[in-house]
Amino acid sequence: MTEVSMEKIVSLAKRRGFIYPGSEIYGGLSGTWDYGPYGVELKNNVKNLWWKMFVHEREDMCGVDAAILMNPEVWKASGHVSGFHDPLVEDKKTKKRYRADHVLEENGVDVGGMTLDDMAAAISERKILSPDGNPLSAPKQFNMMFKTQVGPMEDESSISYLRPETAGGIFVNFKNVVDSLHPKLPFGIAQIGKAFRNEIAPRDFTFRSREFEQMEIEYFIKPTDWQPAFEAWRMSVHTFNNAIGISSERVHELEVAAEDRAHYSKRTIDFEFDFPFGRKELYGLAYRTDFDLSAHAKASGVELSIIVDDATGEKLVPHVIEPSFGVDRTVLALLVSAYTEDDLGGETRTYLKFNPAVAPIKAAVFPLLKNKPALVEKAREVYAALKRTTPQIMWDDNGNIGKRYRRQDEIGTPVCITIDFDTLENGTVTVRDRDTGEQERVAIGELAGRIGAAC
Ligand code: GLY
Repeated sequence: MTEVSMEKIVSLAKRRGFIYPGSEIYGGLSGTWDYGPYGVELKNNVKNLWWKMFVHEREDMCGVDAAILMNPEVWKASGHVSGFHDPLVEDKKTKKRYRADHVLEENGVDVGGMTLDDMAAAISERKILSPDGNPLSAPKQFNMMFKTQVGPMEDESSISYLRPETAGGIFVNFKNVVDSLHPKLPFGIAQIGKAFRNEIAPRDFTFRSREFEQMEIEYFIKPTDWQPAFEAWRMSVHTFNNAIGISSERVHELEVAAEDRAHYSKRTIDFEFDFPFGRKELYGLAYRTDFDLSAHAKASGVELSIIVDDATGEKLVPHVIEPSFGVDRTVLALLVSAYTEDDLGGETRTYLKFNPAVAPIKAAVFPLLKNKPALVEKAREVYAALKRTTPQIMWDDNGNIGKRYRRQDEIGTPVCITIDFDTLENGTVTVRDRDTGEQERVAIGELAGRIGAAC
């Protein structure tokens, strides 16, 4: 395991086309990031593997893709309008704003379970100043939802919010899905999509950004079944991590104390990852009880229950287990897990040791020399044939072969295929392994099977 700094990750991500600062040519926009050509492939691979594992390969799951803009009543009922806050303090002199809990943590204070009053007391007792050395205001709550206006009226009646979690779009479609599919408990609804939080202090690259993507499941159960269901999902989170290649040595479970849980949760486990900036939440698993369905039923006047006994017609409001995965945090954890420096052929090299299943490019095809038409023609033929079965194949004839290997190593391409003069004679190519740098000769006819099996 290579210990890597964030500087190295951010620099490689930008240089090699994984992640760029948002709106960069205009000086950026704090808390936003754009995924480049390899970043979008990596991210799509993560999302597709997640959907395959949790929706396509199961009988008890289905998906939705709900609108980001929702009726504001949704967020009143869910408790987000009144309670989705972070504590904010202001530098009295510069007026710069900070997360009060972050400022306290940076000054060695354990903020677990602290109220605003506790934070105010800690700031005053310990004489904690802003990072610029100035006095801080008393902490106050700051609602993290982005407000927007829907329609041409610019008044209170048109206020809506960008969704702060995708879960809301699942809960409000519970009745629709039950009416369409008539599922029996237990069953789950999955959704992948953008969510938005107006973070007071976005930081740590894509870890804490204002626009991000979530992969969420609401798994509906009978209330009496919550513990085994919670346990099964706990294991599934680890199975997913292992399948995509997140280093299990870096993942740790944290049982979240009652006073630190979200308002809707009766039990939460955070799956934390050892990022270069510390051990921080990667995924969450929460037992949301019937908090959301009951709140939406009450606020909307629409019954949100399900029949649990066909003979008697008995109904109940299901309880919910929620595994919630951050896509951007997963991508960042993959970059950190995969980043490797070693010595190959007497030279230091950097490579991304991605599991082939998530690697943005599955194989690169080169002609040994780009000025030999027979080699180029044969290489083009191999490339076109492979691309038909595995689209994430790359052509590269730029620079010498050593430079091409280094470029592919840095984006994590598992194998490089070189068409040389022997290929013209006997129909074999060299296949070079990213991790060992070793090469072997393989018949062209075996390539598609080898690449496909690895991915
Ligand atoms: N749905 C849980 C979360 O967004 O944190």
